[in-house]
Amino acid sequence: MLKHTRMSDPELFDIVAEELDRQEHNIEMIASESTESEELLELSGCVFANKTTEGYPGARFQAGSQVADKMERLGIERAKALYGADHANLQPYSGSTANYSVYAAVLKPGDPVLGMRLDHGGHLTHGSPANFMSKFFNFHSYGLNSETELIDYDELEAIAEKHRPRLLIAGGSAYPRLIDYGRMAKIARSVGGLLMVDMAHVAGLVAAGVVPSPVPHADFVTSSTTKTLCGPRGGLALCRAEHAKALDKGVFPGAVSSIHLNIMAAKTWLFKHAAGTEFKALMEQVVKNAKALASELSNLGFRVISGGTDNHIVLLDLRSKGITGSLFQDALEYVGITVNKNMIPADPEKPSVTSGVRIGTTSVSQRGLKEAEICQIADIMNQVAAAPKDEAALNRCKAEAMELIKPFPLYPKGPLN
Ligand SMILES: Cc1ncc(COP(=O)(O)O)c(C=O)c1O
Repeated sequence: MLKHTRMSDPELFDIVAEELDRQEHNIEMIASESTESEELLELSGCVFANKTTEGYPGARFQAGSQVADKMERLGIERAKALYGADHANLQPYSGSTANYSVYAAVLKPGDPVLGMRLDHGGHLTHGSPANFMSKFFNFHSYGLNSETELIDYDELEAIAEKHRPRLLIAGGSAYPRLIDYGRMAKIARSVGGLLMVDMAHVAGLVAAGVVPSPVPHADFVTSSTTKTLCGPRGGLALCRAEHAKALDKGVFPGAVSSIHLNIMAAKTWLFKHAAGTEFKALMEQVVKNAKALASELSNLGFRVISGGTDNHIVLLDLRSKGITGSLFQDALEYVGITVNKNMIPADPEKPSVTSGVRIGTTSVSQRGLKEAEICQIADIMNQVAAAPKDEAALNRCKAEAMELIKPFPLYPKGPLN
């Protein structure tokens, strides 16, 4: 790994090696994380990183882009085939940039936009006052039904009728259930608006056909290429044919400049890989593992938000255990299980404390963990929740967690070259 850096900058090499060691010996359960394959790491650092190009294949602003054209065309065709989309744009630098690109494509300053509340599972880029987009557009929000903890579509419809959003946004960062994209499309259209589905979290599950696809319903679909898609740190935007020109203009020159061609190369590999049977089996296991985790934690007395999960996310209300999200996150980190504190609906705690944690099963499924190991992890979590400040108890849990993950190497094909 990093054989040249090792010689030229041993100090930095040691830091990267330390991070590899941390990942190897930790049980990574942050829902937005995944492990990049050797091919993705190779391609992310390939010679396409040297090339500056802007524009689109056949219409570049810089000479010497013919090879880049070939790659971008291949990537676009693979992305379209993977998702059955009319049009794909691989240039967004991340999921956030993909969202900004759609806003650039279809919104004018002051336009009404409707997205899910951040503390009910939405994302910062969907209208949070903390995000600079909220200065330019008139964001409104919808949330979850307080009893079912599912999206309250009736309330959403009433809010849409009141504010008549130009853009309705579906999708979120901490929503463990399926979304009725068909109903959301109907609501958007009934008020003369468009539907954008941000599938950042479920993009891999959608690609594998493990959860329903938003593509037949949405005008625009945006995504990160990390998270369940298990790709490089990048973004993706899809749309119906009628919006293709607007989307491309929204991406470039609207939201990005020169293309990260090295990352585009990694995405191009990803879109082929994600169409395969191995990836489908992995995504099936991701969901099985999440369901097993939700069920086991619930048996152990944790309150699982919405009563379970349909995807890779399990959101816990820790008030059932008398602890906060930050305390549980820190205690789990000590024992070698990485999760993140997360707001839950109507959370009485501050965002820096929270009453919940969000747990994801993508990375552990990539390492080969199945339901039996997931239930062991749930048991460790329960022991940690019972004694989050008891060093001796935490040390016992740490030893158990280390033992559990040992037979499942991060890179089973051998050390990174
Ligand atoms: C729903 C959703 N959209 C967008 C993003 C942003 O993606 P990125 O970190 O790739 O910009 C995230 C991830 O944090 C997300 O959860």
